[in-house]
Amino acid sequence: MKHPNDQIPAPWARTPTSRRSALRGLAGLLLTSPLFQDFAEAAAKEGFNGNQPPPIDDLFNTFDFAKAAKEYLDPIAWDYLAEGASDEVALDDARRGFNRIIIRPRFLTDVHEIDVKANVLGQNLPFPIFIDPSGGKNCFLDGGELEVAKAAAKLGCMYISNGGVDEFLTSAEAPKNWWMLTTGSHLRSKGTMETFVEKLEDMGATGICFTVDIIHVSHRERSIHNKFVRRWCDTGVPRDSAGKLIYAEGEQAWTTGNYPHLAFPTPTWEDVKTLREMTDLKIILKGILTAEDTAKAVEVGVDGVVVSSHGARQMDHVGGPIEALPECVEAANGKIEVLVDGGFRRGSDVLKALSLGAKAAGVARPYLWGMTLYGQQGVERVLTLLYTELALDMGMSGVAKIGDIDRKLVRIRDYELTGPGAIR
Ligand SMILES: Cc1cc2nc3c(=O)[nH]c(=O)nc-3n(C[C@H](O)[C@H](O)[C@H](O)COP(=O)(O)O)c2cc1C
Repeated sequence: MKHPNDQIPAPWARTPTSRRSALRGLAGLLLTSPLFQDFAEAAAKEGFNGNQPPPIDDLFNTFDFAKAAKEYLDPIAWDYLAEGASDEVALDDARRGFNRIIIRPRFLTDVHEIDVKANVLGQNLPFPIFIDPSGGKNCFLDGGELEVAKAAAKLGCMYISNGGVDEFLTSAEAPKNWWMLTTGSHLRSKGTMETFVEKLEDMGATGICFTVDIIHVSHRERSIHNKFVRRWCDTGVPRDSAGKLIYAEGEQAWTTGNYPHLAFPTPTWEDVKTLREMTDLKIILKGILTAEDTAKAVEVGVDGVVVSSHGARQMDHVGGPIEALPECVEAANGKIEVLVDGGFRRGSDVLKALSLGAKAAGVARPYLWGMTLYGQQGVERVLTLLYTELALDMGMSGVAKIGDIDRKLVRIRDYELTGPGAIR
């Protein structure tokens, strides 16, 4: 299959392509020999066009990580990571929503010691920022899920896993607080639900995170224009030595114009009720954006919701999750916990969410940038930067511990703002 960008002078044409592929080939040959392991690792860390990640200490905030990851990754993998659905309006809104919320700092309180520890869904956490699920980590780093799981274990933070790392999750080094993602396929029948639940109970999972917003998959139009193949989520973007994309025989790139239809009935609130009755594992519903659905979540007895737009990768034009947070918190009425994600790039974003009643804020792209560049160490660094920013912002706003953050810490502007949107 011919890629539309074939006519454009390709970036890899500017440097000797052969260098990258030759190194890869050589590393592959030598990988089996422990003598050459260091060399092989060095070659594997080379990014698109022969780029190397900068020294990690030169990156001071999540935006620095984004810039470095963009320079490092194959542009098609970058698009898959960064993109939103359709017009990407919700992608910009996720960031712009934060600009409408203004911190009201209070002074002359004792803030010499700041404590970001939090209790979320019955778990004591070192900080109220969690690792969101993300599929396709191999597109950015081979074996990425394991790197993220290891970082979660080291940090002791809440981690929602996409699975595939069972051995690690059942080992002595496993994270203490891990949740398994399902997008509904496990809930198709009582039998599949039981198998799923029993496995997670045996494995010692903390809970189940049911993502409710991806019953149909959106049009991610950057990837569609790139002729992206979903298989590349598992394998990375394959190119030949001249940099041309490699398609398998008869392979179908992501496209549009197909009428949506699924072979199975899709999950309903009744299924969530059945799941609730089946297990004592905690259950959270991810992708909730309204008071109505939060009230339903309370009714069916789940433990919490994650107010989320799936990183603006599913339904477009839904606004920023931070804007939907207040109505969901109000509907939860303290009966279940409300978490939130979408566009969190700064400690101050987290502070605003906690002030609006969220118990914790999730991130995906920021840790994926760190993971892409440095594996486990990058994930740890990104989360550390975020929670230390949060602590500093608390110190500058007069709150010494998470429990002291309340609704009075912010006010919401009632007019629209423009301003920097998402990183593209
Ligand atoms: C590359 C990528 C893959 C994702 N895959 C999933 C997924 O498999 N399941 C899911 O519930 N959410 C998925 N998400 C959404 C995140 O869990 C999260 O809701 C969102 O990305 C948070 O916004 P942020 O990326 O701006 O931090 C994915 C996000 C990205 C960027």
